[in-house]
Amino acid sequence: MATVAPGELAGKHLVLGLTGGIACYKIAELTRLLTKAGATVQVVMTDAATQFITPVTMQALSGRPVYTSQWDARIANNMPHIDLSREADAIVIAPASTDFLARLAHGMADDLLSTLCIARDCPLLVVPAMNRQMWQNPATQRNVAQLRADGVEVLGPDSGPQACGEVGDGRMLEPEATYEAIASFFHPKLLAGRRLLLTAGPTFEPLDPVRGITNRSSGKMGFSLARAAQQAGAEVHLIAGPVALDTPWGVYREDVQTAQQMHDAVMRAVADCDVFIGVAAVADWRVDHASPQKIKKTADKPMPTFTFVENPDILAAVAKLAHPPFCVGFAAESGDLELHGEEKRVRKNVPLLIGNLGPLTFGLDDNEVVLFEASGATKLPRADKRALAGTLIAEIAKRLPDTSLIR
Ligand code: C5P
Repeated sequence: MATVAPGELAGKHLVLGLTGGIACYKIAELTRLLTKAGATVQVVMTDAATQFITPVTMQALSGRPVYTSQWDARIANNMPHIDLSREADAIVIAPASTDFLARLAHGMADDLLSTLCIARDCPLLVVPAMNRQMWQNPATQRNVAQLRADGVEVLGPDSGPQACGEVGDGRMLEPEATYEAIASFFHPKLLAGRRLLLTAGPTFEPLDPVRGITNRSSGKMGFSLARAAQQAGAEVHLIAGPVALDTPWGVYREDVQTAQQMHDAVMRAVADCDVFIGVAAVADWRVDHASPQKIKKTADKPMPTFTFVENPDILAAVAKLAHPPFCVGFAAESGDLELHGEEKRVRKNVPLLIGNLGPLTFGLDDNEVVLFEASGATKLPRADKRALAGTLIAEIAKRLPDTSLIR
């Protein structure tokens, strides 16, 4: 599942400013992600940026003419420095070079892009990209601190190998991470200051060192909820069973295999969280004694038999704590959801249980759910899991008791 939620930036107009640096190659992909999410992208480039990637490429990807000069006569009133950002929801400078950050911090306006930034009436986001020594230089650090103090959002930089062959801080965030940071910037911070813990994916219960029992949960719903909660401003701790998914940007992830490990990880982390969402499809049973050696198939021995013991119910255990967080459960039922959903909510003693309608949710990109709570059941329309996750996080935020603010 691609990261970009379809239409999540629909109606947003961005000015994307490129300055001179090898990371310009990443902006082709960033532009594709932004337009795929529904944003319109107006590219503006400094002279130095055009040495690294051509305006032709950027025009083809953004579908709009690219501007590089403040003397460009294509704008009717000859004021591109005012007109280009007039409708913008934000200006994003990516990559932002050492020199451009310095010029911004000092309010200089000697080319089209710097003049656009000074004349703006919208948020400014910068995505630095430079060699580690340039990033660490006290002058750069001073400039970045000044920009932050001026209300500029600084996204990154990343750490790792650099084009110059050195390793350290200063790399531009990868295009996907830059996209995530921009998308997150635009989301209402409904969970600002809240800590959210959630489980996702299946668990794996070993029979022997190579075999085990698991289920078809892909983790997509849980990972989408983790992403949506991060975008809503929460500090997110995701405890994941074995899944093949990338960690959502800005989310702290812990991987586990078995239900018991998931239970123990949750109990270690739950003390200071405001919300717990049990999205994982936790195995109800495990084999009493998993074989330490691979069980061999031999002609003279009978087929193996297994005895099972019950796994801890993580959600019920969290709900039973003396000071539980706001607990949300998930339930996948193969029939009679209305009946089982409310019964399960009451049995697990949680204020909100989200039931998947029908068995057709595991592994799919979309889902249809019903919210069960003491006041009744509410059905939500079928939607893409990434978009649905945003709706569910908003529903959870609405229901949070004020007391969780002082927990
Ligand atoms: O499997 P079941 O339908 O009971 O799952 C309902 C909810 O309980 C889900 O939120 C799931 O994450 C949670 N659960 C759990 N520990 C278990 C079984 C289920 O936390 N052992």
